[in-house]
Amino acid sequence: MAIGQLAHKLAAEGRSVIHMEYGQPSTSAPAAALAKAHEVLDHEAQGYWESAPLKERIARHYAETQGVTIRPEQVILTCGASPALVLALMSGFAPGARIACARPGYVAYRNSLRALHMECVEVPCGAAERYQISAAALAALDPAPDGVILASPANPTGTIIPPQEMAAIAAVCARRGIRIISDEIYHGLSYTGPCVSALVHAPDALIVNSFSKYFSMPGWRLGWLVAPDDLVDAAYARMSNLFLTPPVLAQHAGLIAFDCAEELEGHIATYAANRAAMLAALPALGLARIAPPDGAFYIWADIGHLTNDSMAFCTRLLEETGVACAPGVDFDPVDGHRFMRFSFAVSTQLVEEAIARMVPWFARQG
Ligand SMILES: Cc1ncc(COP(=O)(O)O)c(C=O)c1O
Repeated sequence: MAIGQLAHKLAAEGRSVIHMEYGQPSTSAPAAALAKAHEVLDHEAQGYWESAPLKERIARHYAETQGVTIRPEQVILTCGASPALVLALMSGFAPGARIACARPGYVAYRNSLRALHMECVEVPCGAAERYQISAAALAALDPAPDGVILASPANPTGTIIPPQEMAAIAAVCARRGIRIISDEIYHGLSYTGPCVSALVHAPDALIVNSFSKYFSMPGWRLGWLVAPDDLVDAAYARMSNLFLTPPVLAQHAGLIAFDCAEELEGHIATYAANRAAMLAALPALGLARIAPPDGAFYIWADIGHLTNDSMAFCTRLLEETGVACAPGVDFDPVDGHRFMRFSFAVSTQLVEEAIARMVPWFARQG
C-alpha cells in the first residue's frame, strides 16, 4: 500500500509511473459484459438479489473445465474472493482453529485468520518446494492443523501445484482430517498447463474464486464460494448476515463474461508475451533466482544479493525509475526482506518500457 501511495503521489507530481505493484488486470470487463451492465442499469431496479442463472453457469463451469459435478445450490455468490475466504473460514472452522498457509503467501490469509481468532500455521516454502505447500510438509505437521489454505496458481509466486501433488495433498488431508480451502482465483491464468481444482480430489474442500483476475473485473466485486454439502447452510447464513448479496450489475455482467472467452484469452496472450519479455530480461537485471512463474501474472524474485531491505529497495526503484513493484515483506514476514514481486498485468508496451528503465538501474545496484 505504501508503494502504491508513493506511486500515485509521484504520478500526481507529473512523473511517469508504471504500475507493476498491483495484482490486478489493467484491462476493463469484457465488452459484452459492459454492454449488459448498461442495459440492466437502465431497465432494472438494483435490489438485493442472487442470480440463479449465474449459480447454474458456475456449476456448469466445474463440469466443463474440471469434470466435477456440483449442484448450483453449493455455489454461494459473494462480493469477491475476499468475503468468500471469510465465509469459508467462518463456516468450516471455529475460533482457535489452526490453519496451515504457505509462506510466502497472500497477506490476507494471515490477517483474516488473525481477525477471526484463528491461528495461522505458516509453512516455510522455499525454491526447493516451488514455494508451495507439499503433501510431505502437510504430513509432517505435528499436530495436524485443522485446515489448510492452498493457492494454485499462487500470489506472490505464480507457481502451480502439479496435478499429482494436488492428489497427494488431498490424500494426506483426508487421512489426517485437514479441511482444504482452495483459493482458485488465478485459475485460467496459466502458461505451463491446466489448473486442477482441489474439488477434483477433495469433494469436501471449500473453493474460493472470483471475477477479479481471469475475468478482468476486480472492481465489480463479484466472486463465489463452492461449499461442500455439510457446510452450505452455514456458509449461506454467514453470507446473508455479513454481506447480503453481491451487486446486481456485477451478477448480470459476470454471467455474460463466461461467454467472452475470445476477449479474455486475448488478455492471456498479452500476459504470456509480458511474461516472456520479463523472463528474457531477468539476466540483464541480474536476477537468476526466481520462482517458476507457471501462472497468474507475477514473478517472485530473490534480490538478496542486492539488498536486505526490500521495502527500501522498491521505494528507491520507484523514486529513481518510476517503476512500482511490491516488496517481498508484504507476503513473507520472515524472508520477504530479500524478495520482490513484479506484476506484469499491464500492457506489453509498458512492460518493455519498465525493462528499459530497470536494466541500467539494476546494473548500478550490483
Ligand atoms: C490470492 C488472492 N486471493 C484473493 C484475492 C482477493 O480477490 P477479490 O478481488 O476477489 O476479493 C486476491 C487479490 O489480489 C489474491 O491475490
